[in-house]
Amino acid sequence: MNYHIVTYGCQMNVHESEKIAGLLRGAGYTRESAIEDADIVVFNTCCIRENAENHAFGNIGALKKLKRQRKGMLIAVGGCMAQEEGKAALLVKKFPFIDIVFGTHNVAELPALIERKRREKKVVSLLADRAQTEDGAQPYRTSYPNAWVNITYGCNNFCTYCIVPYVRGREKSRSARNILEEVRALVQAGYREITLLGQNVNSYRDGEVRFPALLDAVASVEGNFRVRFMTSHPKDFSAELVSVMKRHDKICNLLHLPAQSGSDRILSLMNRRYTREQYLEKIAMLRSAIPEAEVTTDLIVGFPTETEEDFEATLSLVREADFSSAFTFIYSPRTGTKAAGMEGQIPEEVSKERIARLIAQVNENTRAKSERYVGRTIELLCEDYDEKKGLYLGRELLGRMGYFASGENCVGEFIRMRVTRANGVSLYGERL
Ligand code: SAH
Ligand code: SF4
Ligand code: F3S
Repeated sequence: MNYHIVTYGCQMNVHESEKIAGLLRGAGYTRESAIEDADIVVFNTCCIRENAENHAFGNIGALKKLKRQRKGMLIAVGGCMAQEEGKAALLVKKFPFIDIVFGTHNVAELPALIERKRREKKVVSLLADRAQTEDGAQPYRTSYPNAWVNITYGCNNFCTYCIVPYVRGREKSRSARNILEEVRALVQAGYREITLLGQNVNSYRDGEVRFPALLDAVASVEGNFRVRFMTSHPKDFSAELVSVMKRHDKICNLLHLPAQSGSDRILSLMNRRYTREQYLEKIAMLRSAIPEAEVTTDLIVGFPTETEEDFEATLSLVREADFSSAFTFIYSPRTGTKAAGMEGQIPEEVSKERIARLIAQVNENTRAKSERYVGRTIELLCEDYDEKKGLYLGRELLGRMGYFASGENCVGEFIRMRVTRANGVSLYGERL
């Protein structure tokens, strides 16, 4: 029996799809296939912005024909959009051919829901919150040499634009013991990079163990591997964490620290609980301890009431903070969030014009920073082979992608490369 999973959204969802694959394989769907040959298609959805939802809606709709052609094909829709208030009902109304809808808190229930579907016409199962932190789902990992490890689920921050706390529930930390056990097993199995995942890893807490202590313990596991973590909330990024980063060579000196805006007025309306100055102080603290550290970020334009002056503060933050790259987004009102009800929503043309200027600024910064790598020798963890380019690719410690030719397959190996050319955030060079 074949399965096919379509994943939208963040790394958290990418890893969740590995769990879904593990569950499906346990339930007798043992081969991954093209969508048209699948016996079950699972959509793992995202609802962070309206366009994420539109994508999913479009692709689910397109399955109607496929399902008619392939007798017995099951269609299951899960993830953040399925968990969104009222969306499950809308989904089954709009797409009557959907067989199963499940939420973010009951992924592990999927095999049982498939079983139930044999007896019932349609199965919709959502839980209000996660019952326990351990879901027992064994991921079927497809990201070698990297392995994702959840450390927290959910979020308590309620940034006023964001739907995550509503669809992922309250923040819960996994036990440090279970996390370390998982990391040890992964390193033993040959994984070379461990990425700790949480909406806000810095608020991790298991009794007395907070994030710096957890990271210290993970990086102290024996073996030849790197550690990354995401995402960090600036309000909780601490000197203690910086000292752990400095102490361990295994921890990548790359910090993804979403700033969202450079304007204090907008940051306050967003409920981010830091000022521009405090944000800049945090990265100055990091760079004074680890001068080569790189910072990446997320930025939103067009938040309600954002003026040209507010926007220019975001532009100047990009220069001042010297980000090595940034994800940029146009604000998208999400039903049920505080910001969706705010006065002063910004017209789309204004946001579009602003984001174009922001992207130009970010790219300029990225390019200037990448140029500095030319001539240097860097260490890459080879991740994959790019068929189109005919080159292997890997990431260096500070997060940049590097491309190189190699006579032998070196996926999963640490290699040294002399950088000969930079293009945007990517580096090209010769394997040494
Ligand atoms: N927990 C992480 C990331 C959450 S979602 C954090 O706190 O940083 C990833 C990014 O999507 C956010 O950082 C934000 O920049 C963006 N985002 C979230 N809600 C959005 C919305 N309604 N409109 C536009 N961008 C949004
Ligand atoms: Fe959303 Fe803010 Fe939580 Fe990140 S910290 S998931 S942006 S509410
Ligand atoms: Fe991630 Fe999207 Fe959900 S960004 S947490 S999959 S809403």
